[in-house]
Amino acid sequence: MRVFQNVEDLGDLKAALREAFEVKKNRFQYQELGRSKTALLIFFNNSLRTRLSTQKAAMNLGMNVIVLDVNQGAWKLETERGVIMDGDKSEHLLEAIPVMGCYCDLIGVRSFATFESRKDDYEEKILNQFIRYSGKPVFFMESATVHPLQSFADLITIEEYKRTARPKVVLSWAPHPKALPQAVPNSFAQWMNAADVDFVVTHPEGYELDPRFVGDARVEYDQLKAFEGADFIYAKNWSCPGVTRPADYGKVLNKDMSWTVDAAHMAVTNNAFFMHCLPVRRNMIVTDDVIESPQSLVIPEAANREISATVVLKRMLEAL
Ligand code: CP
Repeated sequence: MRVFQNVEDLGDLKAALREAFEVKKNRFQYQELGRSKTALLIFFNNSLRTRLSTQKAAMNLGMNVIVLDVNQGAWKLETERGVIMDGDKSEHLLEAIPVMGCYCDLIGVRSFATFESRKDDYEEKILNQFIRYSGKPVFFMESATVHPLQSFADLITIEEYKRTARPKVVLSWAPHPKALPQAVPNSFAQWMNAADVDFVVTHPEGYELDPRFVGDARVEYDQLKAFEGADFIYAKNWSCPGVTRPADYGKVLNKDMSWTVDAAHMAVTNNAFFMHCLPVRRNMIVTDDVIESPQSLVIPEAANREISATVVLKRMLEAL
């Protein structure tokens, strides 16, 4: 595996899940695989879980790890060609990327959507430059449009907790004060479409996700109706994806607090488990009661980030 971006990159999903549970039983069994190999983790944006779980995964595999926070201590990077670099940006990404590639065997990159251009964000302009110019395998640690390490961990968690062969999984928009990217809901939709689940997406008008991610999901604009009989509720905020309202791409269109997941919402489900990728804003996305309830899976879900990252890095090391 030279690139980890989409669910298809893992090949047979059932085999990947089996591998995840095997790794979870003994996460140190592949220590020799990473000996004398280096993972470089590059962050253009903040992180808690991705930073820690991916470092831990690399260490599980016996790797050395270098972490670079691009905006704290590195030279400020220019990303556009043709720019006269007489401003505050001292280095161009086109030199920085191959230089970074010299010091490692695998590269993980986190670079969020900027919302300046939907086209640039959805073409994955930054991550594709790492793929093209680093000379090394690249895994996405949340890009402009996808967060595959999160979605793999979410799927592992659903597999662990499901009570029926084909559970009903609902992805629900919830309110948030700031404009957030669509990477988590995009990836979650992509992975749920590939998994054996009954998948429903619910959100207010204007928040339609890109059709390439929605796939075969049922879209229901009535949130309570969507929640009826659900086995898993996956809450997340996202800003306007610009599908039905291109001029509003990246904007907050709605802060309707009736979409906050509370006990009344959970009461119409099939005693559903509550999921969220974290970090979460309590009493915006979900009430204290729901996130603290025995049905909340937010901590096991975060713990499975180590497992998803270990499987992905293992596959990349095996392909070197
Ligand atoms: N869920 C997730 O990716 O968390 P961080 O942003 O803290 O890495």
